[in-house]
Amino acid sequence: MRLLVTGGLGFIGSNFIRHMLAADRRVRIVNLDLRTYAGNPASLVDLSRNPRYRWARGDIADPKVVDRCMKGAEAVVHFAAETHVDRSILDAAVFLRTNVIGTQVLLDAALRHKVGRFVHVSTDEVYGSVARGFSREGDRLEPNSPYAASKAASDLLVRSYVVTHGLPALVTRASNNFGPYQYPEKALPLMITNWMDAAPFPLYGDGRNVRDWLFVLDHARALELVLRRGRLGEVYNIGGTHSCSNRELIERVRVLMGVGPELVRRVPDRPGHDRRYALDCAKLKSLGFRHAYGFTEALQATVDWYRGNEAWWRPLKKGGVYRRYYSRQYAARLKGRTSK
Ligand code: TYD
Repeated sequence: MRLLVTGGLGFIGSNFIRHMLAADRRVRIVNLDLRTYAGNPASLVDLSRNPRYRWARGDIADPKVVDRCMKGAEAVVHFAAETHVDRSILDAAVFLRTNVIGTQVLLDAALRHKVGRFVHVSTDEVYGSVARGFSREGDRLEPNSPYAASKAASDLLVRSYVVTHGLPALVTRASNNFGPYQYPEKALPLMITNWMDAAPFPLYGDGRNVRDWLFVLDHARALELVLRRGRLGEVYNIGGTHSCSNRELIERVRVLMGVGPELVRRVPDRPGHDRRYALDCAKLKSLGFRHAYGFTEALQATVDWYRGNEAWWRPLKKGGVYRRYYSRQYAARLKGRTSK
């Protein structure tokens, strides 16, 4: 199978590429990735000599580049996106350009090149906050952050290409991913890497927000299943094995790492912070999906990975892009808090 993967230098994309190449020797992958701040060639250095893998540097919103990469592709798995909620609050423009326009450019090219399957990778955040119960695929989309709104827009665009043009596309909506190679601005890698340096983790608000945690390697397995066996035109939720509040998550990681409670610093809440996400995954299970990793073992593996791969994340945290973002995002909050 000749696959075009977009955003394959990112966290989930890079894990998916490694999974697919190992799972099936007939798979060949072109990875179209712009290498933004969150895309890191170091995440796939082990594949640099693999003849079945090639990285094409380019922007999914550039029709010429996309057209070149789409040639010969039998299927597309589309990860490329701006994904960090806090960044979308600071500046939404790039979220719309990449997540919405980029998706439209890809969909048009997929139509022109008569691609056999197009999997659009999305998020549970499009459903908005659910006070109780579980979001099902047919539920209303009620995105609350600019990031979630941009993903909801792209999901709807995919739907429109299915209905109007008969594009053989599917949408997946996953819960919070964790695991190796996640950029350390997201909660879990931020927590682990800060604690490795005895720096505090800034906990937003009261810490009672609930997230459902999905190990990235299980996500990769679920995506392979949807790619091969999912019904065209359908949406599939992909949830994890453990749902908990941020406080509980922190406690578990704190115990695993053996750090004290003084390294949790409460800071003012994220504006519009969704209280709870929860997915009903019956549809995915009906395709035969079972998780392969327990939460505790996956969390331990993640902590171990960051401990064993400082050469991967330290340069990111030292870099200007990260430091500028980090100081804008957190320093003011932390200072405000400690001076109270
Ligand atoms: P995050 O990893 O940003 O994912 P998302 O917002 O997409 O769920 O955050 C996970 C949870 O952790 C979320 O409820 C926000 C919270 N959080 C903090 O408390 N402090 C932080 O510094 C970050 C980044 C997140």
